[in-house]
Amino acid sequence: MTISALALVFGLLPAALGATFTVQVGPGGQLVYDPPQITAVKGDTVTFVFNPKNHTVTQSNFDTPCVPNGGATSGFRPVSNTSALLDQWQFVLADDTKPAWFHCEQTGHCGKGMVFAINAPADPDPHSFSAFQALAIKINGTGDSSASAPANTGSYTTPPAQSWATATATISNAASTWTTVYTSYDGTPAPTYAAQPVDHKILVGADGLNYTPSNISAAVGDTVTFEFHPKNHTVTQSSFLAPCKALGETSTTGQVGFKSGFRPVADNATDFPTFQITINDTAPIWGYCGQQGPPVHCTSGMVFSINAVETGPNNFAAFKELAMRSGSNTNAGAGGSGTGSGSAPGASGSSKPNGALGESSVSGAALVLGAFAGLAALL
Ligand SMILES: *[C@@H]1O[C@H](CO)[C@@H](O)[C@H](O)[C@H]1NC(C)=O
Ligand SMILES: *[C@@H]1O[C@H](CO)[C@@H](O)[C@H](O)[C@H]1NC(C)=O
Ligand SMILES: *[C@@H]1O[C@H](CO)[C@@H](O)[C@H](O)[C@H]1NC(C)=O
Ligand SMILES: *[C@@H]1O[C@H](CO)[C@@H](O)[C@H](O)[C@H]1NC(C)=O
Ligand SMILES: *[C@@H]1O[C@H](CO)[C@@H](O)[C@H](O)[C@H]1NC(C)=O
Ligand SMILES: *[C@@H]1O[C@H](CO)[C@@H](O)[C@H](O)[C@H]1NC(C)=O
Ligand SMILES: *[C@@H]1O[C@H](CO)[C@@H](O)[C@H](O)[C@H]1NC(C)=O
Repeated sequence: MTISALALVFGLLPAALGATFTVQVGPGGQLVYDPPQITAVKGDTVTFVFNPKNHTVTQSNFDTPCVPNGGATSGFRPVSNTSALLDQWQFVLADDTKPAWFHCEQTGHCGKGMVFAINAPADPDPHSFSAFQALAIKINGTGDSSASAPANTGSYTTPPAQSWATATATISNAASTWTTVYTSYDGTPAPTYAAQPVDHKILVGADGLNYTPSNISAAVGDTVTFEFHPKNHTVTQSSFLAPCKALGETSTTGQVGFKSGFRPVADNATDFPTFQITINDTAPIWGYCGQQGPPVHCTSGMVFSINAVETGPNNFAAFKELAMRSGSNTNAGAGGSGTGSGSAPGASGSSKPNGALGESSVSGAALVLGAFAGLAALL
């Protein structure tokens, strides 16, 4: 599902709404927003005061900080350094918790870190304000801001996390209808219920240190059954950016993810234990084998994905490469410890694909930021 650009809703500012935040744009001639980020709720008003120079407040996506996304923008607000009037622009937040990202479109400003965020998750979340600012400087800048760009290791660059949002969709199946809230990013299909739910089978360790197939698509309502073959493997959910760590270890929002636990199978076995998950939405699901070996199975490439978006940077091949590069020292304790649900063969595991990117997930699903165009210049 494509994240829709936040829409501008022009209108009169309803009286007596929430709090008002005032953000100085370019105070003292500096290329900053002050404060650089705020936490606001639905109904709050955000007022931008344009100081001398010629700035904008323009919405962008997290992964392209310096490119307008077609959402809200103040337009250029030139203010003379001799002017007694500072220009102003404001809007009312129509969504409680969804992060919104902004930058100054003036040539060179964004690349110097002139960016702003509403409701960005706190560090060390990969979608924090400082991560956004570092990305702006890395992509468009000269690096002369206090924020530093993420370090590269050798010639390899970790694939960027994709711009994401929380979406809701209503799913109907036969007589029942329910609403699902899920992480969505560009390329994620709409969560339509499978006309005829299918059980997808993935063999675990039947062909060396691999899941076979390792990369599948499944519809809402489908199940995925993992069938364990000889040796001693797990099926453990992780995040894209930390392929060899259990989701519960890296999630900042308490997501646990599914874990089969270790399923030792004898070489002469004829009966293979299974572990099943139900697909409730179309968010990509990432997973790995937690066996530390030697060899460490995950860094040997024993990973799988369900509903990876192959057209984006967070595709299965990128995930597998990240796993193989993640190194054994990052994997301590990564294994399914058997504490996850579904430790009996055939039991249903509970998946939590909302955390599939390992970023914080937000509640509140409106994709529309109601905005108000400030009309009058302020003293
Ligand atoms: C930032 O870089 C991107 C990609 O090179 C480019 O499309 C965009 O126009 C740049 N933005 C600014 C404000 O320079
Ligand atoms: C403000 O900046 C924009 C973009 O660089 C430019 O087109 C516009 O002429 C500038 N306005 C003034 C008054 O300098
Ligand atoms: C105001 O701008 C003019 C020209 O743009 C410049 O010569 C002058 O030094 C500026 N004054 C201040 C106080 O920044
Ligand atoms: C399976 O692997 C786990 C973790 O290495 C180990 O604790 C367990 O004893 C193994 N089970 C068997 C039967 O080898
Ligand atoms: C598998 O081999 C073990 C000994 O290696 C034996 O005790 C067991 O009965 C065998 N199981 C089957 C199903 O053949
Ligand atoms: C993953 O699956 C998609 C769709 O079947 C396929 O196009 C892609 O090549 C696969 N990627 C890998 C690395 O196997
Ligand atoms: C999917 O839905 C089933 C039935 O409501 C539930 O038991 C399971 O935990 C859900 N899975 C996820 C990932 O939320």
